[in-house]
Amino acid sequence: MKNENIYILGIESSCDDTSAAILCNDKILSNVVANQKIHAAYGGVVPELASRAHQQNIVPVVHQAIEKAGISKKQLSAIAFTRGPGLMGSLLVGTSFAKSLAFGLNIPLIDVNHMQAHILAHFISEENHKKPPFPFLAMTISGGHTQIVKVSNHFEMKVLGETIDDAVGEAYDKSGKVLGLGYPAGPEIDKLAQLGNPKAFRFTKPKVDGLNFSFSGLKTAILYFVQRETKTNPNFVKDNLNDICASIQYTIIGILMDKLKLAAKQTGIKHIAIGGGVSANTGIRKALEDAEHKIGWTTYIPKFEYTTDNAAMIAIVGYLKYLEKDFSDFDVMATARLKI
Ligand code: KG4
Ligand code: ZN
Repeated sequence: MKNENIYILGIESSCDDTSAAILCNDKILSNVVANQKIHAAYGGVVPELASRAHQQNIVPVVHQAIEKAGISKKQLSAIAFTRGPGLMGSLLVGTSFAKSLAFGLNIPLIDVNHMQAHILAHFISEENHKKPPFPFLAMTISGGHTQIVKVSNHFEMKVLGETIDDAVGEAYDKSGKVLGLGYPAGPEIDKLAQLGNPKAFRFTKPKVDGLNFSFSGLKTAILYFVQRETKTNPNFVKDNLNDICASIQYTIIGILMDKLKLAAKQTGIKHIAIGGGVSANTGIRKALEDAEHKIGWTTYIPKFEYTTDNAAMIAIVGYLKYLEKDFSDFDVMATARLKI
């Protein structure tokens, strides 16, 4: 007879992090992430290198997650994996591994949408973390996505607006490239921004209707600005790096908050969550905390380790789907452009 507790192994391999996590019901027992440093030298993720690194990492990462959780493979109730969206070569590694292990152990397989997982990470049981009540608004901000989603229940989600070009994380990373920073530049810009004056330089915000976003114009504006200023002062970037970063951050957070406020006004929803790599950003975290007192929102900010890609968020979706007996067929395919 199966034990009462439900043990889910989650596997994430959509981009450049190989991750495996074990959940006991909605509590994390382990969450192992192997970050692929190799891409930094190329200034961005190289898909072929990413899938090769996943192939090298997946067995030790899964092994470590099971060992850290202190359980045996035989106790697993199901295996959840990221089906998409993401890089095809990367997704295939996690998908085939999950299928063969689930088949070998004769347990259910559960496919998970990576973007839903960034949102449902809020349902991992943690001390001092409240779970959002339905309906709530979720803004997913990462290197590949920028969306505002109305979440009516765990599995009923509607995209209200999204970027029409670059994602917000891309805007950070591409601006960082112009400034000569390493990849990914988001965390570094965030760090330097805290030392600078956010109003030192002004970048115009894009005019995009409704709840959609655009970030490609900002990247170009920053490039032209730096080119112009370095003509008169070749050391301009070095001399003003903190102020430039603070001004970029101020502009980006302004764009995100304007749209979030509009979404809250249009829907009348005041429970606001964020997720994805950029939700680690101190600027957006502070802006949301301020909105609690100033606008009366209740905000939900993920714990730092669940912001960037991780398998704990895949495993929690696996658990929620397990309760619904929402299992996948073994012929399920990795889907690079999977929608919410
Ligand atoms: O969710 P994630 O790990 O991967 C994707 O699904 O894309 O997000 C990675 C993105 C990168 O663009 C990175 O620069 C950005 O998140 N990021 C940040 C911060 N930490 C990570 N951006 C701004 N501030 C941060 N503190
Ligand atoms: Zn992600």
